[in-house]
Amino acid sequence: MVGLQKADDAGVYKVTDDVALIQTVDFFTPIVDDPYWFGQIAAANALSDVYAMGGVPKTAMNLVGFPLQEMDFGILRSILEGGIEKIREANVALVGGHSIEDKELKYGLSVTGFVHPKKVLTKQNLQAGDQLILTKPLGTGIINTAIKANLADEKLIKEVTDQMAQLNRYAADMMEGYQVHACTDITGFGLLGHLVEMVIGSGHGLHIFSEQIPIIPGTEEFAKMGIIPAGAYRNRDFRKGWVNFENSVELCIQDILFDPQTSGGLLISVDKADAPGLLSDLVDKKRLEAALIGEVTAETVEKITVI
Ligand code: CO
Ligand code: CO
Ligand code: CO
Repeated sequence: MVGLQKADDAGVYKVTDDVALIQTVDFFTPIVDDPYWFGQIAAANALSDVYAMGGVPKTAMNLVGFPLQEMDFGILRSILEGGIEKIREANVALVGGHSIEDKELKYGLSVTGFVHPKKVLTKQNLQAGDQLILTKPLGTGIINTAIKANLADEKLIKEVTDQMAQLNRYAADMMEGYQVHACTDITGFGLLGHLVEMVIGSGHGLHIFSEQIPIIPGTEEFAKMGIIPAGAYRNRDFRKGWVNFENSVELCIQDILFDPQTSGGLLISVDKADAPGLLSDLVDKKRLEAALIGEVTAETVEKITVI
């Protein structure tokens, strides 16, 4: 049902009329110093693609590259414990894995999930009038860059780590019962990079309301100081042709909208009539920092206007 032809968050294979299989794999090098938190973040990130497809993850397998000669084995144990904590929280069974000796530490998961074939959510299928909801604040790339430069305090490090380790399960659970037309999760391409993927081929334009976008406190200040990861510039160069910024949108905000996110939130395109209900479920019931950040216009030009 979903494969390489239309790159999406995960592959989907229809097994029967009632069951489709979702498969995804994700791993990366450490983005935080603490091995236990790194394990949690890598696992939450890998599980996220199943939620982004409208599915429920069921089984997972560990993928590990570890520098056995140079690193204490206890570090690997902590990473795997962090991963298992998130796997349990997601109600997923860890069924195996594979590890190799590697110069650079790497960890992640391959994840398998299920979805009803008629409920698969892809990046396609935006409808005019849809409201766009983002379920986590932006800024993890910029703040992680500030952490590496020793510019972030403990409170901010805790806040950004919590955000990255938070499962998208709680947001995904709330989509049930609402007319959601498309969904993805925000990762390396940044908010605008992922929005461009949704807009291409949609036959619609998007309006993004920059002042409504949730941003982790401190991100703007670091962006103004030029503490911006190289990936944000690459994202901008790659996709700037699709995006118009109105003059009122400050440069630091533009940078934040292209900031590569680690384990970012879901981006949900929901029917206009259902948007208030879904948003209040996300914010009031699940206490997520979700917000309505834009809408799908009736324009036929595939373009993103940031207001
Ligand atoms: Co994804
Ligand atoms: Co992924
Ligand atoms: Co999707």
